[in-house]
Amino acid sequence: MFKTVRGMRDFLPNDAEKMRYVEQVSREVSKLYGYEEIITPVVESYELLAAKTGEEIRQRMYNFEDLGGRKVALRPEFTASVARLVATKMRNEPKPMRLFSTGSLYRYDEPQYGRFREFWQANYELFGSTRPEADAEILILTNDLLKRLELQNYRFKIGHTGILRGILNQEGLDEGQQNRLMQLLDKKNWEDALANARGANVSQKGLRTLERLFETRGEDAFQVLESVKETVQEYEGALAAVENLWEIFELVRDNGEQMDVMVEAGFARGLEYYTGMIFESYIPEIDVALGGGGRYDKLIQLFGGESIPAVGVAQGIDRIVLSLNKQKVSPKTAKERSVVVISVKNESKAKALELSAMLRKAGLPVEVEVMGRAVSRALADADRRGVAYAVIVGPEELKAEKVVLREMKKREQRTVEISNLTEEILVSST
Ligand code: HAM
Repeated sequence: MFKTVRGMRDFLPNDAEKMRYVEQVSREVSKLYGYEEIITPVVESYELLAAKTGEEIRQRMYNFEDLGGRKVALRPEFTASVARLVATKMRNEPKPMRLFSTGSLYRYDEPQYGRFREFWQANYELFGSTRPEADAEILILTNDLLKRLELQNYRFKIGHTGILRGILNQEGLDEGQQNRLMQLLDKKNWEDALANARGANVSQKGLRTLERLFETRGEDAFQVLESVKETVQEYEGALAAVENLWEIFELVRDNGEQMDVMVEAGFARGLEYYTGMIFESYIPEIDVALGGGGRYDKLIQLFGGESIPAVGVAQGIDRIVLSLNKQKVSPKTAKERSVVVISVKNESKAKALELSAMLRKAGLPVEVEVMGRAVSRALADADRRGVAYAVIVGPEELKAEKVVLREMKKREQRTVEISNLTEEILVSST
């Protein structure tokens, strides 16, 4: 018997419906914020995907040689593909440019709760602006999406790559050394990160500064930033980063929507392309991030384009579905208005089809009994599958232009005029 490959999943109807629901709300949000959808390939050149994705993901890419001898890989994220487009085919498009993508991604991660080898993201990228409004938009959009999905108590962990890089630059660490240190911080491995800094000849002052930063975090953004400012006062680059984050928080605070944050001065993300604000979203019940993103101003240039600043976020659809399950949020599904039409006698089969067509025209999801079962068995089956209404087409009622409408959950039924049937179902299902 064949099974799915380790780390790969089948989505049976209930799960598939939830995944598609989150995707659909994400797409609605993309439209509300002016993000245009693009579709890029799952297979890309290995060089492109590996460029700035960070050691962690690089090690876990599904890469292989295709039959033409090209070194290719399955995409582990969308950002590289979208940046490739912006550096090439879309380079003459006016800015700002807002692009949305959704689809499957592949990382050879160790399968565990919330970590899969094939997973889905809804990805939003905003190109062309260095301003804090752009960073704020990405945060606000993510907050809005989680709210629309009716999740509770979600919060954002926020930092700024420029704080640490500002210090490490001034301390003379090259990019490779900085990236290694950031990878350790991404794993919350503070001790090793400090040892690593010591090994890279960071000064005593630098080490003390880093140590203090790793401990600086809190929910009052402005208070945390005040304290970071004091800690990094001798590092110019880091100060500019604090200033930038301050401006972003002012915009987020004033946008009128509640947003819970945890600011962490020593926060780093595994991807290497970030140059500015970085963040992840969480709910308390799950300790993996639901989404993550940040500013990356140098990537397009690296891919041969002009210098185009960018900021974006990827929402993890699988983990959002896990969150909806944890918080017992059940998305409104088509099932709540679904109807089965059952004909009692052979002669009314055609009428059953006609009524089905009439109900579908009004937007109701309708199944017709196709197994030739007795009404009681067809009803028992509809009940088991959670169908909301049954329309029973019997010869007696038909003579009077009527049918029986049964509300499955309430176990109540009544005879209704065919001319009123659609209306009756629509009214009782709202
Ligand atoms: P990321 O943090 O690697 O960022 O992934 C974003 C989200 O994708 C995660 O928060 C998580 O929900 C989901 N995700 C990642 N790996 C897995 C996995 N193995 N299983 C299930 N879900 C997973 C990025 O991908 C960046 N491209 C985000 C970005 C866009 N930055 C700027 N623009």
